[in-house]
Amino acid sequence: MKKNNDENTNILSIKNDVLQAIHGANSASELNKIYNAYLGKNGVLRNLLRSIGDIPAEKRPGYAKEIHNVIAAIENSLRDKEGVFLENNIQTTDKGLDITMPGIKIKNGHLHPLTLIERRIEHIFSSLGFGVVEGPEVEDEWHNFDALNIPKNHPARDMWDTFWLRSKQKISNSKKQIPSPRLLLRTHTSPVQIRYMEMHEPPFRIIVPGKVYRFEATDASHELQFNQVEGLMVGKDISVANFKYIIGVFFERFFGTKINVRLRASYFPFTEPSFEVDINCLFCSGKGCSTCGHSGWLEMGGAGMVHSEVFNAVKYDLKLVQGFAFGFGLERFAMMKYRIPDIRLFNSGDIRLSQQF
Ligand code: PHE
Repeated sequence: MKKNNDENTNILSIKNDVLQAIHGANSASELNKIYNAYLGKNGVLRNLLRSIGDIPAEKRPGYAKEIHNVIAAIENSLRDKEGVFLENNIQTTDKGLDITMPGIKIKNGHLHPLTLIERRIEHIFSSLGFGVVEGPEVEDEWHNFDALNIPKNHPARDMWDTFWLRSKQKISNSKKQIPSPRLLLRTHTSPVQIRYMEMHEPPFRIIVPGKVYRFEATDASHELQFNQVEGLMVGKDISVANFKYIIGVFFERFFGTKINVRLRASYFPFTEPSFEVDINCLFCSGKGCSTCGHSGWLEMGGAGMVHSEVFNAVKYDLKLVQGFAFGFGLERFAMMKYRIPDIRLFNSGDIRLSQQF
């Protein structure tokens, strides 16, 4: 008991000494010395903690607690005193505090131009009542092709050079092994049309931004991986006129100027009729320049009225629904808006690109 009392008295006197020393300190370096002498690696209090095994076991918890209390009190007092030095502008190092020295500049990050474009597109379509939906990048053959009226061995499949994924996994069944669906990296965002319609009833209007992949040679306007934004609006009497109006409003808001939209007959297996969507060239205002191949028009993407076979695949009643779909390349928008000459720059990882925006 006596010994324990001695120990406690000892700790308390250490505490008083240290607090007094802190009180009398005139500089941050003095505080540093005090810290090292008592709380540093070989400081007095650390050593006390280390020698705790020398006292009877039943007294150790109380003793340790006492030491920790003193450590906390010293730490608080050191912090307070440091604050006083800073506030009073008193020299906090031996060399003094130069408050005119430039601070450490915090660098701001940058959003990637494609992120900016995607957000802008989402914002405009949301304001037109469209929901924003996502789907998987690893897709099965049925959603990417069959349900979109692109059957196996049909030449239309060649429109989308595909990265097929090898899958060893089999779904076992007591009698025979059923192969799992063939998987691929989606070649367009159109499979999300199917996924959405499988889960929802019309009327609805959605856009689907996301990454897509094509097994193609790369050049200034082709990449293996790029981004699309799909659109789908389905209801009782949705028409081409609705599409042309909505897409016109979208382009004008996106580019912030009056835009002429032209629909040109085209072919996609999942739309009928199908169109290429052109807008007047923004660089020459339709007069003809090298960007638009001297045609005065820029091709922005594909579109059309949803094919009856697509509605059949999701078991919609053809008598009750019709709608339009479109698919645009996001990089195209970014390249035009920011005049980026090469699509490969987007994934180059070169921050000189993103720092400009
Ligand atoms: N999915 C088509 C493509 O990637 C674009 C498209 C979407 C066309 C919707 C028509 C309707 O080429």
